[in-house]
Amino acid sequence: MDEKRKVIFSGIQPSGELTLGSYMGAIRNWVDLSGQYDCYYCIVDMHAITVRQNPAELRRRSISQLAQYIACGLDPEKNTLFIQSHVAEHAQLGWVLDCYTMFGELSRMTQFKDKSAKNAENINAGLFTYPSLMAADILLYQTDLVPVGSDQKQHVELSRDIALRFNGIYGDVFTIPEPFIPQAGARIMSLTTPQNKMSKSDKDPGGCIYILQKPEEILRCFKRAVTDSDTERCVRYDPEAKPGVSNLMQIYACATGKTFPEIEAEFDGKGYGDFKTAVGESVVELLRPIREKTEDLMKNKDYLSSILRSGAEKASRTASRTLRKVYKKVGFVER
Ligand code: TYM
Repeated sequence: MDEKRKVIFSGIQPSGELTLGSYMGAIRNWVDLSGQYDCYYCIVDMHAITVRQNPAELRRRSISQLAQYIACGLDPEKNTLFIQSHVAEHAQLGWVLDCYTMFGELSRMTQFKDKSAKNAENINAGLFTYPSLMAADILLYQTDLVPVGSDQKQHVELSRDIALRFNGIYGDVFTIPEPFIPQAGARIMSLTTPQNKMSKSDKDPGGCIYILQKPEEILRCFKRAVTDSDTERCVRYDPEAKPGVSNLMQIYACATGKTFPEIEAEFDGKGYGDFKTAVGESVVELLRPIREKTEDLMKNKDYLSSILRSGAEKASRTASRTLRKVYKKVGFVER
């Protein structure tokens, strides 16, 4: 029965603290989907070193990220939770796929263009070939569905192209994955510059909300959130004309389950101040249990280590089957 379940793979880089954007764009859906699929949720530390990291911080954040995955509702008994660098097949398949990914394809990736603009002093080869390692992550598990925010759609589509190319040469080696982008929350914007994505690398501390942030700080950030300078001054969903208000509506919809018409009716005749306070409070209540559970879990490092051990073992079993097949197809001699 388990064998026939469809497979999900997704991951987040431990390159910063987890944000409300990654919760709403990704983790929330991981939790929703986790009952129906065979799920692999990864902490992609190898991707994180494409940008320089403080080693002690990277280690701490990787463990904390696991605790946050569990606190968000991912049951480690039902989902395979693991760290990418614990499963050597990711690097091994990544290299093979590098040889089936075109320079032109990688050059067109918007994340590469953005990150190389932001890290002009360190445009390393890993930053460039990042998407073929991501394809390896996905294809190793014969993944059907990849739940991500909309910024990762281009990478998942490239993974599909690489899989189709490889299958076209060698027969059906890889399942062809599909991106799964949520209806609401696919792209949460910065609270201070709503034309930019909310991002853990945001230089403006008020723009980004973190899952573990203290309630009073969260409330302060929402109170200071940029609304729009249009004369209408009403809560209405219109991302073009009212990017700030529309982003806050999106956050409120994700946090409360309310629809846009319901939100518009709720704040009809009220000012932006009331609205921002309500959004802030809804986020505080959404994140409170997650923060408390994470704090508890972080007191039990042995438990977290044991999950990482069994997650890596389970992931390795699946990944090694795919890698063996790939090595055989490309003509490597069996050891
Ligand atoms: P990363 O670490 O930047 O982001 C993790 C996930 O969170 C989503 N996300 C957002 N969604 C909505 N609004 C936002 N402001 C926001 N910010 C982040 C991202 O879309 C993503 O789903 N390359 C990936 C990590 C990765 C991966 C994989 C993902 C590596 N291998 C294999 C899926 C499958 C990344 O940089 O995500």
